[in-house]
Amino acid sequence: MTAQMTQQPQATIIDGKAFAANLREQIAHDVQTLKDTHHITPGLAVVLVGEDPASQVYVRNKGNMTRKCGMESFEFTLPADTTEEQLLEKIHELNADENVHGILVQLPLPKHINEFNVINTIEPSKDVDGFHISNVGKLSTGQTAMVPCTPKGCLMLIKDTLGEDLSGKHAIVIGRSNIVGKPMAQLLLKESCTVTIAHSRTRDLESECRRADIVVSAVGVQEMVRGDWIKPGATVIDVGINRIETSDGKGKLVGDVAFNEVIEHARAVTPVPGGVGPMTIACLLQNTLIAAKAIHGI
Ligand code: GUN
Repeated sequence: MTAQMTQQPQATIIDGKAFAANLREQIAHDVQTLKDTHHITPGLAVVLVGEDPASQVYVRNKGNMTRKCGMESFEFTLPADTTEEQLLEKIHELNADENVHGILVQLPLPKHINEFNVINTIEPSKDVDGFHISNVGKLSTGQTAMVPCTPKGCLMLIKDTLGEDLSGKHAIVIGRSNIVGKPMAQLLLKESCTVTIAHSRTRDLESECRRADIVVSAVGVQEMVRGDWIKPGATVIDVGINRIETSDGKGKLVGDVAFNEVIEHARAVTPVPGGVGPMTIACLLQNTLIAAKAIHGI
């Protein structure tokens, strides 16, 4: 309410695309150093089961970025009727492969395959997604862990905006998925934020949101978070990627956040596209480099 009366300046638009490009440049430099000094080329294996078009695009992008950073990319596309046993066999093979330092199985998997069985078969030191139960447990108990890529990227953007010290800040994470919401909440808790995890059953989400200095939304509902939900000066991170129809038939991507409203209230906000999206792949490459070094005791 006060924001409208006191004429808040418009929010800074957080340039995730530029931040991710810088991060990739740094990673490429470190990869080259690893090659020169230890003759090790980090390798990332990505496994896709089935023909989901969105997943195919993600997997292709991951492969291209991996190679651009000087790492090796191993891509495996398995048919949609692959059995769980066959997929587990592939993972055992990759676990044993010395040239593979990171393994990512693209989610979601076809319904007949148990996602948890698959994730928990990946050797934890190669689990660059940070989804293995061992990495999840380590993160939630404050031990060194592989950190899931999207929340890791979000935290980098938050710190770039607010500085390193987030202690005492009130953060709300909207969404409780294993991929984003839960690990994001753990990371913010580790930074000594007071963290609220909101979800589809949360009562009076607007009021919960208005208390937050940091808002991370990962629900997949287009433009759900409105301008007047935002405390003046808050930092807003939009993880949502929602494809909507447009009159020209081309369609476009929008986030979970009503961007044009939120920029009138927030201190800083990520756009969609060009915000969190590019950070996820950059963090995946960073995790692959971390895994390669750790596996070789460097
Ligand atoms: N599907 C959507 N996001 C992700 C992710 O971060 N990792 C994997 N493996 N699959 C996904």
